Amino acid sequence: MDDVLNSGVKRAMRDHVLVPAQEMARLGKTAQPVLTRAEGIHVHTEDGRRLIDGPAGMWCAQVGYGRREIVDAIAEQAMTLPYASPWYMATSPAARLAEKIATLTPGDLNRIFFTTGGSTAVDSALRFCEFYNNVLGRPQKKRIIVRYDGYHGSTALAAACTGRTGNWPNFDIRQDRISFLSSPNPRHAGNRTQAEFLDDLVAEFESRIKDLGGDTIAAFLAEPILASGGVIIPPAGYHARFKAICEKYDILYISDEVVTGFGRCGEWFASEKVFGVVPDIITFAKGVTSGYVPLGGLAISERVLARVSGENAKGSWFTNGYTYTGHPVACAAALANIALMERDGIVEHARDLAGHFAAGLRSLADLPGVADVRSVGLVGCVQCLLDTSRVDSTDADKAFTREIDERCFELGLIVRPLGDLCVISPPLIITRNEIDEVIAIMRRAISEVGTRHGLGRQDMKQAAV
Ligand SMILES: Cc1ncc(COP(=O)(O)O)c(C=O)c1O
Repeated sequence: MDDVLNSGVKRAMRDHVLVPAQEMARLGKTAQPVLTRAEGIHVHTEDGRRLIDGPAGMWCAQVGYGRREIVDAIAEQAMTLPYASPWYMATSPAARLAEKIATLTPGDLNRIFFTTGGSTAVDSALRFCEFYNNVLGRPQKKRIIVRYDGYHGSTALAAACTGRTGNWPNFDIRQDRISFLSSPNPRHAGNRTQAEFLDDLVAEFESRIKDLGGDTIAAFLAEPILASGGVIIPPAGYHARFKAICEKYDILYISDEVVTGFGRCGEWFASEKVFGVVPDIITFAKGVTSGYVPLGGLAISERVLARVSGENAKGSWFTNGYTYTGHPVACAAALANIALMERDGIVEHARDLAGHFAAGLRSLADLPGVADVRSVGLVGCVQCLLDTSRVDSTDADKAFTREIDERCFELGLIVRPLGDLCVISPPLIITRNEIDEVIAIMRRAISEVGTRHGLGRQDMKQAAV
């Protein structure tokens, strides 16, 4: 064990790396498990273990690991032309990728701005809204409406829009222009039906607009499902009703598809095909390259752009960009990734397996300690509570869930730990049998840990893994 703890990588991590979400009291005292290689849906640890990658890295490894086509495209582009300044040069990969993505986005979202990841995509989308309203001569129309439990990233602006309040302490977040609505978490409906709950969420939005003044609100920013906030799937019809209100008050609707884009919900983008809305702007990242290299971006409506370009530009310049905007190597990786997804029908495969995945998760619902299960496409979660009648979890529930995650890890499955949730969003190439394996491991882990906590009889009937 000491050997492992003192291995070169772990020691270097422990002594020199500051990771995202670092518990500062433990800085320099711990190190994460070290991965050495990966193939398909599996990753390998330094100590020789092979694990199913339940969260697909960070909801991003759509086509899985070891895909020669993407690796070759990256190497080829790096050798041919590794970089060009997006300020004054064009490259084939960036141009072709924008053209390709425009065929996958809904409606007239045909113009693409490339960024370096999801946070910078959200940041750029919001900066575009600022620019848009200034050019339109409406400098007061700048507020952004977001939701509690939403997650939008780690730049100053994206973090300010993030409604996971646990991320706020000790950062001076400037939220003077940002207004938070209730989380659309169906479990918060209480005694109300889902339809009544939705009516209340819609009423809250309209009354907020009336309080603040529609002429002060630039954008509504929303993930189709609130992923990092807890795989929260809003009540049916939520997005369409919010979009109709946005239209009424000339508020731009930004759909943050950083997680849901590129097949995760069984469609290239979830906004229209799964949730029934054509947004004004879609942000994307993660699955666009299946995580092989960093890339993000936004797709903007032509109708929206027409209001601030050409004869409506009023001499303006959209001066927002990054050295690595449209990076040729990243764009080449994305093109190869999308080509692979199309060739192998990976989006259709994810759509076909969604029912099997949902049924597998539902089969866990009767285990003691399971409060809720939910999924869309190939993203889902199991909520674990020591007392399943509770709506909000306690620290003890979170510790209970962490134990389940750890037991899954021992049994060969990585689960994304997220408070009281075991989150699973596997590589989209996962097979039916592999989904069954995931569910069997989760069943065994939840049963065993539940028994440890005295929650009902251990149910090992289907636990053979
Ligand atoms: C919905 C959403 N938006 C934005 C981001 C930020 O993306 P990135 O971490 O690539 O900056 C994330 C990250 O998980 C996300 O889930």
